Amino acid sequence: MNKIIELKNINKIYKTKVEEIHVLKDISLTFNKGDFVSIQGKSGSGKTSLLNIVGLLDEPTNGEIIIHGEKVDYKNENMKNIIRNEKIGFVFQFHYLLNEFTALENVMMPSLINKNMTHEKAKKKAKELLSLVNLSNRTKHKPMELSGGEKQRVAIARAMMNDPDIILADEPTGNLDTETSNIINDLFIKINKERQQSIIIVTHSLELANLAKYKYKIENGKFNMILPTIKL
Ligand SMILES: Nc1ncnc2c1ncn2[C@@H]1O[C@H](COP(=O)(O)OP(=O)(O)OP(=O)(O)O)[C@@H](O)[C@H]1O
Ligand SMILES: [Mg+2]
Repeated sequence: MNKIIELKNINKIYKTKVEEIHVLKDISLTFNKGDFVSIQGKSGSGKTSLLNIVGLLDEPTNGEIIIHGEKVDYKNENMKNIIRNEKIGFVFQFHYLLNEFTALENVMMPSLINKNMTHEKAKKKAKELLSLVNLSNRTKHKPMELSGGEKQRVAIARAMMNDPDIILADEPTGNLDTETSNIINDLFIKINKERQQSIIIVTHSLELANLAKYKYKIENGKFNMILPTIKL
C-alpha cells in the first residue's frame, strides 16, 4: 500500500489553567511511501505538536489517524506500542542516546526491545547502518565520546534499525553548525533516495526544505503547502 499515514481533521488544543491554545486546526494530510516532507513554521506554531501526534507520542484533541489503513485506537496501548516500535523511527533535536551504551549498542536497542531478530543479526544490521552513516570507525564509542554530529548520525542509524515506514525528525540539526548540518541533511537525502525511506522533517534549513518533495508551513494552526516556484 502506498499510503502510510493519513491525518483526518486533526485538532490539538492545549488547556492550561488560564487559557486554551488551539495549536492545530483541522489538519488533514496523507503521507505516502517514499515521501520526503519538510515542515517549517515559526517557533510555537505547532511543529513538534504535529510530529508528536503523527508519532503517537501524544493524542489529538479530536480527529483521526489512520496508519496502513487502520484507525489508531488511543485506548489500545498495545497497538500504539507496536506502531511506535515497528513502524516509526524518531530523530529529535537532542539525540537521546543512552550514555552507558556504545554507539553500536544504541543502534541495536530498538531491535533488542522488539526482540524481532537474534542478537547476532541485530549486531550485523547495526554495523551496516553505522557504515551507512559513515561511522564504522566509532562503533565502540559511548555518546560522551562522540561529537554532536556523530551522535545525531547514531540517532539516525538507530531510527532505521526496525525498518520503519517513516522517520520523524524534529529539527535534527538545530544544535549543529552549518557544515555538520549539511552532512546530516545529505544523509537524510541519501536514505530517502537510495532506500526510499519516507521522512517527515521539521527544519529551519531552507536548503533542506527546498530539497524535500513536499514542503509545508504551519501558520495559524493550518498546514499550507508551499508550492514550488515555477521558473519561466
Ligand atoms: N503541553 C503543553 N501544554 C500547553 N501548551 C503547550 C504544550 N505543549 C506545547 N504548548 C504550546 O503549543 C504551542 C506549539 O508548541 P510546539 O512545541 O508544537 O511548537 P513548535 O512549532 O515545535 O516550536 P519550536 O520551533 O520552538 O520548537 C506553543 O505555543 C506552546 O507553548
Ligand atoms: Mg518544536
